[in-house]
Amino acid sequence: MANVCVIGTQWGDEGKGKVVDWLASRADIVVRFQGGHNAGHTLVVGGETYKLSLLPSGLVRGKTGVIGNGVVLDPEALLSEIARVRSQGLDVGPHNLRIAENVPLILPLHPALDRAREAARGGGAIGTTGRGIGPAYEDKVARRAIRLADLAEPDTLSAKLDELLRHHNTLLAGFGAETFRKEPLLARLLDLAPQLLPYAEPVWELLAEARAAGKRILFEGAQAVMLDVDHGTYPFVTSSNTVAGNAAAGAGVGPEAIGMVLGIAKAYTTRVGSGPFPTELDDETGREIGRRGHELGTVTGRPRRCGWFDAAMVRQAVKIGGVQGLVLTKLDVLDGFRELKICTGYRLNGAVLRRLPASPAAQAAARPVYETMEGWSDSTRGARSWAELPAQAVKYVKRIEELVEAPVVLLSTSPERDDTIMMRDPFAG
Ligand code: IMP
Repeated sequence: MANVCVIGTQWGDEGKGKVVDWLASRADIVVRFQGGHNAGHTLVVGGETYKLSLLPSGLVRGKTGVIGNGVVLDPEALLSEIARVRSQGLDVGPHNLRIAENVPLILPLHPALDRAREAARGGGAIGTTGRGIGPAYEDKVARRAIRLADLAEPDTLSAKLDELLRHHNTLLAGFGAETFRKEPLLARLLDLAPQLLPYAEPVWELLAEARAAGKRILFEGAQAVMLDVDHGTYPFVTSSNTVAGNAAAGAGVGPEAIGMVLGIAKAYTTRVGSGPFPTELDDETGREIGRRGHELGTVTGRPRRCGWFDAAMVRQAVKIGGVQGLVLTKLDVLDGFRELKICTGYRLNGAVLRRLPASPAAQAAARPVYETMEGWSDSTRGARSWAELPAQAVKYVKRIEELVEAPVVLLSTSPERDDTIMMRDPFAG
């Protein structure tokens, strides 16, 4: 039985929560492999709404959740998220949540630096979530991060904090921001240690054993390919690799363990934060899509920018992300539009490109080339089979398949878990 990896193919918020939840009910273990509490997944299960940022979605389905080493972990955010979902009746503890002992930690100095830098960027700000994700990844790569296992060694922790503070306080002072003192930070970490260490283990071993026992693993991506630090619309990206390839490094498994790669795409496009967005609609149609799709960021509550489906971009994400099957979400939001547009490429300096150019200036200057399709007036909301879809909606989905060069394997037609049309079982391999 194959494993499955789910990634976003646009700029995040494609509705991964529902899809991962749907898939999680067929998996044994759900693994987060990158990102941190910048992600936001809303799950509606049994009338209860769970807002998850850091916890793997499978926990809601009673599955084992794993936070891999590729994540950056804010201990305070983790503990408060656990407390919140526990208060909603969910059973979460070291028996069903395992965290890589080598995961780097986000400390209060990381969001402080994130925000100080964003403020200094002024109009050129990236629009980060302000949660310290970028600075924490920088510390990991610079080999000065404090990792979960360090909490078990007070002397190591103390020495590492010295190095970290030397670096961060210099930067924070340079930005005119408040600096941090070592003693309260050290005391707090030592205080948190007994709460966190019971979750820590070499998760690579747990995953190797699970694979040997024939268990099904679901790798749950956060953000999306266009926010990938290498392949996205750099510098308006997050600080991790969001592509499926990173599931291996970020969890501690080999590339063959990743299994079937599913890419999630909304039937239109949204983006939060700054950066190029060729198909953005700064008009009543864009606002209408936003209203119908309830397009507000889960983590920050910011309104999302909305636009037409960009098939050129999703095709690029399919190739880079290794996507073998597409999951199309929120098709119902397009119900009732007289006509719909799909971007098939970009016009730039007199030429037509089939992919996004690399430079930010060229990305901003690229103008979408559209194909127009007739819309449909009947509702697709809640459809559970192809036969229930209006003919024009089927045409729209088929055209997307052709343009992005990947088959649509799942189609989500409402936030309800069972309003999903399955064309092919991803776990069948
Ligand atoms: P950071 O990840 O907080 O550094 O933010 C970098 C960029 O990624 C910003 O444009 C954020 O809005 C965006 N971003 C980060 N996480 C998400 C997410 O889960 N969904 C959508 N956008 C995100």
